Amino acid sequence: MKILAFNWKLNPLTEREALSLSSLSDRKDVILFPPAVFLDAIVQRTKRAEVGVQNLFWEAEGAFTGELSPVMAKSLGVRWALVGHSERRRYFEETDEMVNKKIKAAFAAGLNVILCVGEPRSVRERGIRAARAFIRKQLVSDLSGIRSSEFKGRDLAIAYEPIWAISEGAAHHPSDTPKDSAEMAKFIKQTLSPKPYPLNPKVLYGGSVNAKNIAAFLRPKEIDGVLIGGASLQKKELVKILSTKS
Ligand code: 13P
Repeated sequence: MKILAFNWKLNPLTEREALSLSSLSDRKDVILFPPAVFLDAIVQRTKRAEVGVQNLFWEAEGAFTGELSPVMAKSLGVRWALVGHSERRRYFEETDEMVNKKIKAAFAAGLNVILCVGEPRSVRERGIRAARAFIRKQLVSDLSGIRSSEFKGRDLAIAYEPIWAISEGAAHHPSDTPKDSAEMAKFIKQTLSPKPYPLNPKVLYGGSVNAKNIAAFLRPKEIDGVLIGGASLQKKELVKILSTKS
């Protein structure tokens, strides 16, 4: 079963719209990442889809105004945490060290993790080898000290999201090619296959996936699913995405 993960980012504006999107997407191959204010309502109403937080803090409780606790999220019925999204790294200055602490805290609270990695355009322009070196460095730093034996029973997936392919509202933003992203997915699996890393993480592709190109991204065996932003918020697109055979 390939995974369809939907990252709504800071959308939609109302709980009503959020519930309408979640009821359309309520399938067991779907993981929803709504804004935190809608988590409770969505967890209560979804039967098959799993629900995740788009971000979390590494402490469980205390004097950290405005932060989101992994333990509180877990107690709501949340199953997943998205960690290290490029928008968090860029706009909120999240470092690899912070990402590493967040992954450990999520696992410790009993959450599964989707770790996002991806190279900027300037790196990709230097070629695929430079992009691979960048991704390897991110994986090694972000997963530093994380041993599969310590986190038995938790799932780790990697979302490969080249930053230059993530749409920022542009209607026709270029995605990566399915061939190149499958190659990168294979590289990520090879990088993480030797011990001590968690064995066999699933690898998702993200970056301007939509109803038109989703089938091509789901076809390669190296790609275990997709992480979709903008297109998962448009109902017509969403219905087509959900009707894609993988
Ligand atoms: P888009 O699908 O809007 O390009 O967003 C991708 C993404 O960042 C998902 O996390």
